[in-house]
Amino acid sequence: MVQKIALFNHKGGVSKTTTAFNLGWMFASKGKRVILVDSDPQCNLTGMALGEETEDDEARIQEIYNTASNIKTGLAPAFESQPRAIEAVDCIPVQGRDGLFLLPGHVGLAEYEVTLGIAQELSGSIQALKNLPGSINDLLEKTAAKFNADYILIDMSPSLGSINQNLLMISDFFLVPTTADFFSVMAIDSLAKVLPRWYAWAKSASSLKILREANYPFPDFNLHFLGTIVQNYRIIRGKETTAFQTWIEKIEVSVSEKLIPALEQNHMMLPNEIYRNQGIAANFTLAKISNFNSLIALSQQHRTPVYDLTPQQLKQRGKVLVNNQTKQEEFRETFSNLADKIIALSSESPVYAVSA
Ligand SMILES: Nc1ncnc2c1ncn2[C@@H]1O[C@H](COP(=O)(O)OP(=O)(O)OP(=O)(O)O)[C@@H](O)[C@H]1O
Ligand SMILES: [Mg+2]
Repeated sequence: MVQKIALFNHKGGVSKTTTAFNLGWMFASKGKRVILVDSDPQCNLTGMALGEETEDDEARIQEIYNTASNIKTGLAPAFESQPRAIEAVDCIPVQGRDGLFLLPGHVGLAEYEVTLGIAQELSGSIQALKNLPGSINDLLEKTAAKFNADYILIDMSPSLGSINQNLLMISDFFLVPTTADFFSVMAIDSLAKVLPRWYAWAKSASSLKILREANYPFPDFNLHFLGTIVQNYRIIRGKETTAFQTWIEKIEVSVSEKLIPALEQNHMMLPNEIYRNQGIAANFTLAKISNFNSLIALSQQHRTPVYDLTPQQLKQRGKVLVNNQTKQEEFRETFSNLADKIIALSSESPVYAVSA
């Protein structure tokens, strides 16, 4: 059975997209079959996975949009009342990494935001809208079955809109990427308030007969928190700089004092011993990832995670090359450990749905 993992934070620029790509690639390196879903109308993940550097790249992307499906075309049967059923999307294999696929995004997905919002608010009181709340789950499940996927990683947009509400509530797990700053602390505080409301909605949607019996049924609630990732903090002489360390601590306090209690009350935590078995502390920081510095540009240019860039791609020599290779090994270990923890959490977790 596929595990759907959402990367969610309504704060922008916290490395949701970059982490989805690096982590998905690492899962695939470990033999998992992975679909990266670009649900953000900004389409940054699609750009990162397919490349959009040159005119040739852009022609190739245009060709993909003309011939293969994307998230919006996939959902069109439900949202545009087309007389055909939702079908699995033809995902694009990501070059250079067997087992990794992309379900491309679409700028026009944003056009469905309002309709979905209405359908979710009215939850089943209008026949014509009953198929919308379960449609995204249907599309993802059919696509996962077609590609025999073990994991779906969902890169979400920075918003609290209805598409994100739906995507998160149909997922099995979620990760909250953060950056070490004041705004991430605020974002954690606000998630602690929003997520209980979304839970209440999902619980009622999954118990409504009209939504359960729709052509695309709304699934049972089965969402669990994996943890946070603190990203892109700066390192000086092997240590975080003081300001970053302060914000990391504030994020951790906010997570353990505000977010976790809210998640516990709303059935979004796994049993405690599952986290403890993986050595996850009470602050739920799964990984701290420092600034990729000069490697980020090369990673984007070669559509390859920082840790898998070859010496040819680095185009460096001598001491500079050796320094960067040392960094690469550190990043490889960080992402490998992160992937191992997530694989363990998702396979140890009991599948149990919360009923109404
Ligand atoms: N560890 C890192 N080191 C250096 N740069 C990074 C790192 N992680 C992300 N970035 C850069 O930070 C910027 C924001 O990252 P990214 O696009 O992944 O964030 P996001 O959360 O997906 O943003 P959005 O909310 O707009 O979707 C990008 O330019 C990315 O290249
Ligand atoms: Mg993004």
